[in-house]
Amino acid sequence: TDFDVIIRGGTVVTATDTMRADVGIRAGKIVSLSDKLTGAAKTIDASGLLVMPGGIDSHVHLAQPAFGGPAMADGFETGTRSAIAGGTTTVIPFALQPRGTSLRHAVTDYHREADGQSFCDYGFHLIISDPTASVLSQELPALVDDGYTSFKVFMTYDDLVLNDRQLLDVFSCARDCKALVMVHCEGYDAIKFMTERLESAGKTAPYYHALSRPESVEREATHRAISHAELTDVPIMVVHVSGREPMEQIRWAQNKGLKIYAETCPQYVALTADDLKGLNMDESGGKYICSPPPRDEQSWDAIWSGIQTGVFQTFSSDHCPFYYEGSEGKLNPKARTSFRWVPNGIPGVETRLQILYSKGVVEGRISVNEFVALTSTNHAKMYGLYPQKGSIGPGFDADIVLWDPSRREVISQSLMHHGADYTPYEGMAVVGWPVMTLLRGKVVAEDGRITGEKGDGQFLKRSLSPFAA
Ligand code: URP
Ligand code: ZN
Ligand code: ZN
Ligand code: ZN
Repeated sequence: TDFDVIIRGGTVVTATDTMRADVGIRAGKIVSLSDKLTGAAKTIDASGLLVMPGGIDSHVHLAQPAFGGPAMADGFETGTRSAIAGGTTTVIPFALQPRGTSLRHAVTDYHREADGQSFCDYGFHLIISDPTASVLSQELPALVDDGYTSFKVFMTYDDLVLNDRQLLDVFSCARDCKALVMVHCEGYDAIKFMTERLESAGKTAPYYHALSRPESVEREATHRAISHAELTDVPIMVVHVSGREPMEQIRWAQNKGLKIYAETCPQYVALTADDLKGLNMDESGGKYICSPPPRDEQSWDAIWSGIQTGVFQTFSSDHCPFYYEGSEGKLNPKARTSFRWVPNGIPGVETRLQILYSKGVVEGRISVNEFVALTSTNHAKMYGLYPQKGSIGPGFDADIVLWDPSRREVISQSLMHHGADYTPYEGMAVVGWPVMTLLRGKVVAEDGRITGEKGDGQFLKRSLSPFAA
């Protein structure tokens, strides 16, 4: 036989083309696209289905240190199981440097979390919380050489925030190393100020999380990051952009010719700050606490216009799962005293594709090719995985999702494979659903059943981003 697997009768969709073609797979790679292929050990009938590159989720948090708060609900095993069930075949989570420690040590520890545990392929971004001279001059250049070619820095959070000088030092280092820097743009001092003011007024319910960091706080930090990027002459990626105001800063910079890239996420087109109110300001609003917070429906429209006009290159989940119930939950006894103590983040690696397909493609806002670009191809290009990952064509890894474009589902916790005990999208009706996921030619998920094994996923040593430097 010529092929290990043939995917027959489907419609192949890439970021640029839609075509009726069979896909021939050998030794984990796509080797042929043709009108009609025969001669395989296994043939998969894809008639009526879209054949798309497996999702690449370049913003996922798994097994990160808890800094005294509740532990994350997902390590590599459950987080990547959830990914493949949702049609995603590569994730890029974060190896986080706790202050006072070496980044190399953090990377070694993080490999230990992932080794033999992952259902999908994975690379690591590096979270830099302590840019000492040796981190900047020795550790980071060596780590970039080893395939950790992107960093993330934070402008907020007690344990991670960098001051302006430190941001400039990291940006400058990234320029020298040709690494791509992702920036979390929310202003630390403004959030601190607002948090104390709200708490003094007794406004401690989950909803006040959103009021503690309004869009102006994100806009200011976004502008500041852009200015620092301009000063150091380095491209940056502004992650998890929530609404019109920060987006306008990015568009302004892009129009000026600066290399500023941007990411948005499902929560900014599917949730609003009102979700944080729960039922009559009860505590269930804590389920939706993430940063930046979801805004309002006008913000959804602004984000869509940014997607349509090319402000955004990537649509990522920012999967950052915590339990809702229990002493390790979002509303553990301490977190009940103030929104300040509720861990930030929501699960979403398994529902990213369905939400974008449904609200984007089915509702006519983007083409199916743009869907592929936003969920897979652009992530591969942006983060040094192209042309190994991110498309369907000869030579690419056979990471493929078979997609039923007309399947109606209601998102529900009972369908999820993550470790968390809830989904923030409970009850949301969607059209379009992944029915089979292949990782390098192996069927790893089929109709909600996991057929792969932990350990199927491999570490990806990534190339330099062509968008950096
Ligand atoms: O609330 C969020 N997004 N938590 C995840 C950490 C981050 O800032 O991306
Ligand atoms: Zn250690
Ligand atoms: Zn962030
Ligand atoms: Zn994040």
